[in-house]
Amino acid sequence: MKTYEIAVIPGDGIGNEVVPAALQVLRTLADVHGGLNFKFTSFPWNCDYYMANGKMMPDDGIDILKGFQAVFLGAIGDPKRVPDHISLWGLLIKIRREFEQSINIRPAAYFKGLESPLKHTKNFDLMVVRENSEGEYSEIGGRIHKGEDQLAIQNAIFSRRATERAMDYAFKLAQSRRGHVTSATKSNGIVHTMPFWDEVFEDVSKKYPDVQTAAYHIDALSAFFVTRPEIFDVVVSSNLFGDILSELGAAIMGSIGIAPAANINTKGNYPSMFEPVHGSAPDIYGRGIANPIAQIWTAKMMLDHFGDTDIAQKLLDILQDVTAEGVKTPDIGGRATTQEVTEAICNKLKDLA
Ligand code: NAI
Ligand code: MG
Repeated sequence: MKTYEIAVIPGDGIGNEVVPAALQVLRTLADVHGGLNFKFTSFPWNCDYYMANGKMMPDDGIDILKGFQAVFLGAIGDPKRVPDHISLWGLLIKIRREFEQSINIRPAAYFKGLESPLKHTKNFDLMVVRENSEGEYSEIGGRIHKGEDQLAIQNAIFSRRATERAMDYAFKLAQSRRGHVTSATKSNGIVHTMPFWDEVFEDVSKKYPDVQTAAYHIDALSAFFVTRPEIFDVVVSSNLFGDILSELGAAIMGSIGIAPAANINTKGNYPSMFEPVHGSAPDIYGRGIANPIAQIWTAKMMLDHFGDTDIAQKLLDILQDVTAEGVKTPDIGGRATTQEVTEAICNKLKDLA
């Protein structure tokens, strides 16, 4: 029997609705699947904690989390009480940085029962692998002078180590999928870092002769996400390009309420963190209508990360079956509550037993 020790941070707003829903699903899954067990330890670190203590987590918070196999997070943010830069940087971004979660992965796939804004295809299933530690999002640069002389410089940083790390992850992931990696480049316009990116891609691809490759400039690639998303399997990108592509990926699926994400520590020296793409949704918090699917799909990615890929796939199939049967929250055109969707998912899981 495997027992996974998971640190749970529901966070703010609907994090407190969708995280309990996902835990209920994971507990049900453990009940029906004899070989699997979870030990959840919950931490009340959020904006309430900040109001009471002047910080988002205790000083030894990172040390406490180190001992777990994964961090399962809802959402952070209560902008009416705590400025976003304080709440996000004090918890979420701190965890990503301290735990060297250098890769961000986000799937985008046709989801049964959901109306995608794409009318011409139901046939896409891709994964964006985003370099998450450097690239265009660097702190190197500055501003100088005032008035008409004002000037700002922001440097993009591309190290061979981080670039290779993201690409290696993408190729390995492709080996477990359909064996194809697309590189998002822009070497026709960005003349130093992107030719370097292309060279590293060439080098890394030689290590994986079984994986097919393609490279597109980011502008054309973005258009293909809309016109021909079915041509992609794994797409590897820099920090900025990946940020935009993964948002576009969520958009072509049809709702932010279903989009999951994972922040991966590739070395295995610290836990990885699993969190949905959406935030704390203060506009709907407390009404019991938050869509739990993004959080539950995030749990599915955690199972994949642990290597429990079969049961993970069954869970994703069930999420789609429930949606296709019309048990849907209002954001995707239904009338069901968070709890009703969760119960429907758990009932289908019990049928597997
Ligand atoms: P948001 O993602 O919380 O909400 C955007 C819109 O999508 C809202 O209309 C909301 O009701 C809807 N929505 C989001 N998730 C949903 C779900 N599961 N079911 C149904 N509808 C859903 O983004 P917003 O409003 O810009 O940010 C709210 C707070 O969340 C801010 O404090 C922001 O900084 C924070 N945030 C935190 C993130 C994180 O923890 N990773 C990510 C994005 C935002
Ligand atoms: Mg973004």
